[in-house]
Amino acid sequence: MTNQSSIIIAIDGPAASGKGTLAKRLANFYDFSHLDTGILYRGVGWLVLAADGDPRDEETATRVARDFSLDRLEQADIRNADVARAASIVAAMPGVRAALLDFQRQFAKSPPAGYFGAVLDGRDIGTVVCPDATVKFYITASPEVRAHRRWLELRLSSPGISEEEVLDSLKRRDARDSGRDAAPLRPAKNAELIDTSALTADEVFSRARRIVDQKIKNLPQQD
Ligand code: CDP
Repeated sequence: MTNQSSIIIAIDGPAASGKGTLAKRLANFYDFSHLDTGILYRGVGWLVLAADGDPRDEETATRVARDFSLDRLEQADIRNADVARAASIVAAMPGVRAALLDFQRQFAKSPPAGYFGAVLDGRDIGTVVCPDATVKFYITASPEVRAHRRWLELRLSSPGISEEEVLDSLKRRDARDSGRDAAPLRPAKNAELIDTSALTADEVFSRARRIVDQKIKNLPQQD
């Protein structure tokens, strides 16, 4: 379980909802360390693909997840659509999730020296990884808005990619992430919901900041 002496902000939500941007801004503002947990699943997906493996092969994916470390991703291009798809396939496997759990909990409860807390973003942070987080957010937006945002990013590295293609793969990934049995994507019971469809990144940040400030103010004082 998480250690309540450090402040933990859990941010969950579907692809391109704005959770990563919010996580970075909150971490920067409060001087908290930040873990984008999607990197772990993308990393496992990428390592399987890089070894010419099939991401649907559970035994291989679980073995890769058990040996996983962030240093193995130097030079890896984990931001493309193929890796996103592989990530959401391996992420549905209980053995893969179990292998990555300790690292995430350890990061949350022991932020590196000099940091006052941790921000983790992903799909199951408030529900499974850090159920005792100080503040939980669920960040969402309509599929069309999310696909447009992701298309703006992806077209730089994949110039031919169409917005329809991006929308289609994002919907498939949403369905896989929400429909799986192992840690499905859903808001934690006590999560603060923010729909970013019609909000700027600044507006999302100031809304979230007000909520975090309020929660921190109401925390019991530690000796
Ligand atoms: O950046 P984007 O929102 O597109 O995805 P990501 O956060 O990098 O996550 C990639 C995939 O990893 C997701 O589609 C999920 O299947 C999986 N994931 C997960 O299952 N649990 C997490 N805590 C984070 C990511």
